[in-house]
Amino acid sequence: MMDDVLKVYGGAPLHGEITVRGAKNLVSKAMVAALLGDTPSRLADVPKIRDVEVVRGLLELHGVKVTEDAGGLVFDPANVGTAEIDEINVHAGSSRIPILFCGPLLHRLGHAFIPDLGGCHIGDRPIDFHLAALRQFGAVVDKTPQGLHLTAPNGLHGTKFELPYPSVGATEQVLLTAVRAEGVTELRNAAVEPEIVDLICILQKMGAIIKVHTDRVIEIEGVTSLRGYSHRPITDRLEAASWACAALATKGDITVKGARQVDMMTFLNVFTSVGGAFEVDDSPTKGGIRFWHPGGELRAVALETDVHPGFMTDWQQPLVVALTQARGLSIVHETVYERRLGYTDALNTMGATIQVYRDCLGGTPCRFGRRNFKHSAVIAGPSKLHAADLVIPDLRGGFSHLIAALAAEGTSHVFGVNLINRGYEDFDSKLAALGAHAERA
Ligand code: EPU
Repeated sequence: MMDDVLKVYGGAPLHGEITVRGAKNLVSKAMVAALLGDTPSRLADVPKIRDVEVVRGLLELHGVKVTEDAGGLVFDPANVGTAEIDEINVHAGSSRIPILFCGPLLHRLGHAFIPDLGGCHIGDRPIDFHLAALRQFGAVVDKTPQGLHLTAPNGLHGTKFELPYPSVGATEQVLLTAVRAEGVTELRNAAVEPEIVDLICILQKMGAIIKVHTDRVIEIEGVTSLRGYSHRPITDRLEAASWACAALATKGDITVKGARQVDMMTFLNVFTSVGGAFEVDDSPTKGGIRFWHPGGELRAVALETDVHPGFMTDWQQPLVVALTQARGLSIVHETVYERRLGYTDALNTMGATIQVYRDCLGGTPCRFGRRNFKHSAVIAGPSKLHAADLVIPDLRGGFSHLIAALAAEGTSHVFGVNLINRGYEDFDSKLAALGAHAERA
């Protein structure tokens, strides 16, 4: 028996109800924000996923006391201190979140050490915007073979910075640094994803002064100290969309408790165009969205991934599995990451007909056109999917493999399945709750 292999008996619709909790791409950043407070912070609804473990480990190494509390976590930063580089490096290569420790550690300690980053291999994922912004605040960055050493010999000062692209991480870097920098910071071309707005709400609760203007401009007035926060995070709209696509691809019916319409409006438009049905329950206690395949044929669509409020890059991979079942030619132009279509090879081995192109198949301005990146796809459907042995390439691509295996006729083996734990809490039990026929091989 291998613990990292899932044997999937495909071909049966998924039916039932699951719950999504705090958004992976907010919770981990909210945990870093706790470092900025002088008093304890409390974060509710924290999912048990790998990024949370990594950030918790790093916080504890820096003296933050972390305790569990009714499905959430409490962070006490009373004794923040310097951590041993060797101990920090245990977390090297495991997550991208450590880069966000720069500003908070510079404020608390005057120096920071950041290990090599991890994360999915979906593009080069440089950190040039982060480092350029930090330097403008006054940080001195020393790149060493072990990792990044940062200091701020003259303190951190507010600045004007325009991002070359509305990067989520770089926007968070600026927010987490500017809130306690001296003076005013103006960030142009900022990302405005719901997870960023929620992070701004947390920082505001801590005493920060942040104005979100129109046209992607964020203005931050630095303050000398911040207090702890108490916050219930927005729920995971990436996970919710993944299960919605699983319902569509397997001709099933899945209620995702905790899913919020307001964060998923762009997804819901596409879901409807493809032929999916949904129903929103916005009652305060057990709200959520029910997603189902209403019968009949699904329809092909053309879509382009983009920064918010566009169609999220993380929604693309699970949706493509459903598009293999739609009649006609669907077109997907991926404009956020240059290498996020590699997972389609595996779908083709299962019987899908997906052709990838270097050209931009769409009108959204894109950084990858006429370079050597296969970042557009044409999907011809419907195709009958059959079982295969699959190796999980990355988080979202991996979930799409899993959906394909569930939709396909026959028994598939999905290798490296534990990687899915990085972003999907308890997915084995969720699969069981939805009646999936799957077991650890
Ligand atoms: N970029 C640069 N330089 C930088 C930073 C970004 O060129 O210094 C480029 C990236 O290479 C990419 C684009 O800008 O082409 C967008 O990257 P962004 O910084 O927005 O991504 P991120 O912050 O690293 C987060 C999520 C991703 C999600 C993206 C886009 C987290 C931990 N990760 O990544 O989520 O796809 O925003 O919304 O919040 C996932 O959950 O599976 C995942 C990959």
